[in-house]
Amino acid sequence: MTSSQVIVKLCITIFFLIHYGPPASAQLSSTFYSSSCPKALSTIKSAVNSAVAKESRMGASLLRLHFHDCFVNGCDGSILLDDTANFTGEKTAAPNNNSVRGFDVVDTIKSNLESICPGVVSCADILAVAARDSVVALGGSTWSVLLGRRDSTTASLSAANSNIPSPFLNLSGLITAFTNKGFTTKEMVALSGSHTIGQARCTLFRSRIYNETNINTAYATSLKSKCPSSGGDNNLSPLDTTSPTTFDSAYYTNLINNKGLLHSDQQLYSGGSGSTDSQVKSYSSNSATFFTDFGNAMITMGNLSPLTGTSGQIRTNCRKVNSG
Ligand code: HEM
Repeated sequence: MTSSQVIVKLCITIFFLIHYGPPASAQLSSTFYSSSCPKALSTIKSAVNSAVAKESRMGASLLRLHFHDCFVNGCDGSILLDDTANFTGEKTAAPNNNSVRGFDVVDTIKSNLESICPGVVSCADILAVAARDSVVALGGSTWSVLLGRRDSTTASLSAANSNIPSPFLNLSGLITAFTNKGFTTKEMVALSGSHTIGQARCTLFRSRIYNETNINTAYATSLKSKCPSSGGDNNLSPLDTTSPTTFDSAYYTNLINNKGLLHSDQQLYSGGSGSTDSQVKSYSSNSATFFTDFGNAMITMGNLSPLTGTSGQIRTNCRKVNSG
């Protein structure tokens, strides 16, 4: 390349950067609050730690909130917006209604942050950090959370209904749901390892325990006592029957033993011959590999269409759009 070609190329690059900016995800940075709110990360961590110490399931609930936020028009805090007389948010969407939880913990974190650095830390970033701190609090390994997301002023009930995967999907449907968001099948399998913590309602696994054959018999029998063939829809069972409050790789070992709770969980392993079976086996015997892949996939998930720069706003109250 001649020097004049280099100059032309540089000018074109500068033109594009000025007019279109760098790609949105490139603007996120792990040091985003280092000078504007140096105590942001420690403030979030201590609130998550006390919430998880009080109730270990809260770690699972906070992790899931970030997932359900990111899969619906990006990680923009939209899931946190309350319905009002003239606004319908995402909380009543089928995958969220009577199911997602942790909003009070997010409120506590937000008010702690507002008292030390008002108007600085977004609700979307709180969810991303709280998800990581929850995993660590329950025994998982850490990753570096990229920050700088801003909060939406809108939410989408219909996107929440259509973009969050259903527990009744087969493997091909799960792959499609994640491919639609830019994930590989490998990342989908790694992210599903989130089900090593937390609980699910009877109504979402009843058909599996009464009708499916790829389920351990003793496991199905014990689940039936808590989840009758009719009634008890909201009775809870752990997603990981062996170590429900520890973030480990037992979820994958359970799948090999036909002890996945949800239909969708067990889809990741089919007796050794399925396309994702070797990955399940590898995670089952090597939790370090699972932890590394999980952390990387969480970073990818956190990069889903963030609002950055001057887009969106920093909500003062995560439940509502700033007035005025
Ligand atoms: C692969 C597709 C997925 C499906 C079909 C799915 C489905 C579900 C369902 C049906 C529940 C129980 C909800 C209830 O009983 O009300 C649940 C719980 C949970 N999910 Fe997923 N999920 C998927 C992926 C993920 C991902 C990617 C994450 C996180 C990155 C995640 C994190 C969790 C956690 C932690 C819980 C327990 C929440 C609690 O106890 O409060 N899930 N999921």
